[in-house]
Amino acid sequence: MTQQSHQQSGHSSTHIASPDGHLTRRHFLQALGAVGGVGLMMSGMSAFGIGIASVQDRPPTLSGTANGKRVVILGAGLAGLVSAYELRKQGYQCEILETRAFAGGRCQTARYGFVLPQLGQDDEVCQFDDGQYYNHGPWRIPYHHRSTLHYTREFGIPLEIFVNYNEAAFVTGPNAKALGAGPIRQMEVLADMRGHASEILAKHVDQSALDVPLTQEEKEKFLEFLVHEGHLDKRGLDYLGTGGRGYQKNPGAGLHSGQASEPYALNQLLNSGLYDIVSSVSGFSQQKTMFQPIGGMDKIAEGFEEQIGDLVRYQAKVSKIQQSDDGVMIDYVDGGSGETHQIQGDYCICTIPVSVLKNIDADFGDEFVAAMNSLSYEPTCKLGLQMKTRFWEVEDHIYGGHSLTHNSETGNISYPSTGWQAQKGIVQGVYNFGSKAAQFSAMDRNARIDKALGVGEQLHAGYRRDFENGFNTAWHLEPDSLGGWAHWSAEGRRTAYPLLNEPQGRILLAGEHLSYLTGWQAGAIESAWIQIEKLHDMAMAS
Ligand code: ALA
Repeated sequence: MTQQSHQQSGHSSTHIASPDGHLTRRHFLQALGAVGGVGLMMSGMSAFGIGIASVQDRPPTLSGTANGKRVVILGAGLAGLVSAYELRKQGYQCEILETRAFAGGRCQTARYGFVLPQLGQDDEVCQFDDGQYYNHGPWRIPYHHRSTLHYTREFGIPLEIFVNYNEAAFVTGPNAKALGAGPIRQMEVLADMRGHASEILAKHVDQSALDVPLTQEEKEKFLEFLVHEGHLDKRGLDYLGTGGRGYQKNPGAGLHSGQASEPYALNQLLNSGLYDIVSSVSGFSQQKTMFQPIGGMDKIAEGFEEQIGDLVRYQAKVSKIQQSDDGVMIDYVDGGSGETHQIQGDYCICTIPVSVLKNIDADFGDEFVAAMNSLSYEPTCKLGLQMKTRFWEVEDHIYGGHSLTHNSETGNISYPSTGWQAQKGIVQGVYNFGSKAAQFSAMDRNARIDKALGVGEQLHAGYRRDFENGFNTAWHLEPDSLGGWAHWSAEGRRTAYPLLNEPQGRILLAGEHLSYLTGWQAGAIESAWIQIEKLHDMAMAS
């Protein structure tokens, strides 16, 4: 049940109509205020789009200066960078220890020469041409991730649209041949499934065969909706196809009026198994508009580095975390000299993924260690394929978006949302999860590429022909991540999650794992915002 429907059903007996019997915004909000206090009224305001939003859209306002209190921050991913950037403004002396030679954590972009370590395998070395790049970590920013967009705006990082949905892209699956031989465009399935479903419903409404509590006038309006939604013929309420499913021959100039395409029959569609792509509303995290920074996702980390790069100690691998009543002591191994050093601070913000942190010598209490051990991380693989022509644009007229393969071994195929109509481009040939990703990464890198090319060439004549080189990523094999993102069970959310969010003495954890936006940059940023506020409260109280 959504929060809103819960509110409505939970307070159905409350009088929220105005004296003349009509429900107005003002009366509705007054009633919410009366029964649920200010919190409930504020969420009601938000539902009307006139109040606060549920997601944090700016850093916390901290009052009082820290007078040089020292904060040691572990990790220069987004949570660590945000913490240092915001805390320094408040008068804290921050130092970030980063195990990699660059900032950004998992927010990485592969270009020629980029090296990705993979446990138990050779390092993956990027061979793309100069100018080609691929975001093998985070790759899209939803419009409602206001925290991420806060920093791209603040640092003037130019964005472009990330095409997350493209009806002209293909859909295929094991039973796709129920619809015929050729590759099938998503728009054909979308239009025909909605058309047939609307026709069935419309005819039942029309014959009053549908037992719905609607007045005659409401039924007529519902019919109007179904005619519109399913592109039905108004008189017979039949679905006879629509230009929206694509044409046999597109309309053009002169005598080219276009040739309509034939819709699939409903039983063909059902037998194809491809109907599960039809959904009027996409999941919240996948909706338009999506963005990406022009030039690569690592532009965000670069934006932070320009501001606070002087605070980062690179190639500093944390080896021990300790604290006393007075402060924190962090040991790290310097990647250059191999020597162990210690730095001390008043507080520590630790953004190391729990998958890695739980293997570091630290004096956390038993309950906290058990909470860390209960959290698992999602295995996930990605594969970027450099193609010597943009055949998907030139031959198949697909500009961005994803072809849906129903192949859980390799996942969907995604086309670049940058470099339109250039000579070359990088196609994402693999994006898989869980046990499929674990199995896939056990294969030799060339076998993985070969498998992906096999899937792709079923859709595109150019796929194997134009392949030049590939960049494989298995995030669960990347030693400083050991997984793509945190994967919380319902039980973990209830028990371990609240504890990991709480300060442990002078140490606070932060990162995407401490959010309900796991696997998103916004989760890391907003977690840091929450934790620096707690840290500041502690520092001001001491
Ligand atoms: N946030 C990740 C994605 O966009 C999981 O694919």
